[in-house]
Amino acid sequence: MENFIYDIPTKVYFGKQQIQHLGEIASECAKKVLLVYGGGSIKKNGIYQDAVAQLEQSNNEYFDLSGVEPNPRVETVRKGVALCREHQIDAVIAIGGGSCVDCAKVISAGVYYDGDVWDFTDNPNLITKTLPVIAIITLSATGSEMDGIAVISDMNKCEKKPIRNLLMRPKYAILDPTYTFTVSKYQTAAGAADILSHLMESYFSNQDAYMQKAVAEALMKTVIKYGPIAYEEPENYEARANLMWASTWAINDFLKYGNTVAWSVHAIEHQLSAFYDITHGIGLAILTPSWMKYIMNDKTIPDFAKFARNVWGIEEQDDKKAAYKGIEALQNFYACLNIPKTLQEVGIQSSEHFEVIAKQAVPYLNNNYYPLNQDDIVQIYKDCFQEGE
Ligand code: NZQ
Ligand code: ZN
Repeated sequence: MENFIYDIPTKVYFGKQQIQHLGEIASECAKKVLLVYGGGSIKKNGIYQDAVAQLEQSNNEYFDLSGVEPNPRVETVRKGVALCREHQIDAVIAIGGGSCVDCAKVISAGVYYDGDVWDFTDNPNLITKTLPVIAIITLSATGSEMDGIAVISDMNKCEKKPIRNLLMRPKYAILDPTYTFTVSKYQTAAGAADILSHLMESYFSNQDAYMQKAVAEALMKTVIKYGPIAYEEPENYEARANLMWASTWAINDFLKYGNTVAWSVHAIEHQLSAFYDITHGIGLAILTPSWMKYIMNDKTIPDFAKFARNVWGIEEQDDKKAAYKGIEALQNFYACLNIPKTLQEVGIQSSEHFEVIAKQAVPYLNNNYYPLNQDDIVQIYKDCFQEGE
């Protein structure tokens, strides 16, 4: 195991009605806050009203930045920075899915930066100071509520880029599983696929990190057990609670400590999203089985066989057969969540941009589990494009 410094300072309020702490939390770090939210789900399900009631009670003045897009746009981040400066905001509260939290994080950093926030995508070290971020998560998927990552897009340039700087890690997170009861089946499925992907990305590493991988297996089993239950019974509290806590732990760095992790499928998916604005978790689920089959060889088979046996309960003795059965089990899991299998099903009707998209993904694939070049990525896209035709 490699050396590491454990430092995950986000204070988490987990469970029903934890919003009751919002007033006291906000007052600890701010007088004026910016509320960052999406297209209106939080007004329909009453979370916005709950949050505002708390802020009014604690005499925190609040301003709104609404309309954050799934796959948040850099233009929206810029708007948020301008609002913070105009009103001398001293904390940013995100209420929504990962897109809102990511947008809030970059706003929190942009306020202290004289240049344009897009600069952070090439150099996250330009972030030297951030406003405190409070994340009220309403969709279990990205784990953004407890990590130092934000992913933003510039659709004019067909670019989607992650920014990682631990200064952006939320100071507080409110995780109320009942807030995810209204998440649609499609987003529930996408969220489960995203959590599972984060875990697989850590699991398939070249490091022999026994404990981290054993924890990842337990978390994967949690998603496999509760994903379909939440999908069928949206108001099943145990299912929503387990997914919520698993999503946070999948990516909050705990599994990464002592384990060299460089993700693969995420880089391949993010660039597709940049071109086609697809739902992140769905893109991952389409790509992952093809990625697995593409990199299957004598070196990787033992890892895939272990994945099949420990995560999916495959009893096959032969490693190669077990490995393929594991992939089949993963595909069956996606199928029971009605996740599309091909890129055509998410609206990608032509393979003409695959070379360019693959080229954009390559810089993010340094030192990953299995080396991939531009041609390899094109082959993976093509496999997802042809399957099911
Ligand atoms: O915009 P509203 O109206 O709120 O609706 C949203 C949105 O349409 C809806 N939703 C969220 N909570 C809901 C709800 N609808 C009903 N009830 C609720 N309780 O769900 C839709 C999708 O929301 P979004 O925030 O886009 O989804 P998600 O949480 O999956 O975030 C995706 C973004 O996060 C990035 C992705 O690339 C993508 O841009 N990621 C961020 C990561 C991070 N910060 O660590 C890591 C991930 O790997 C990922 O890349
Ligand atoms: Zn993800």
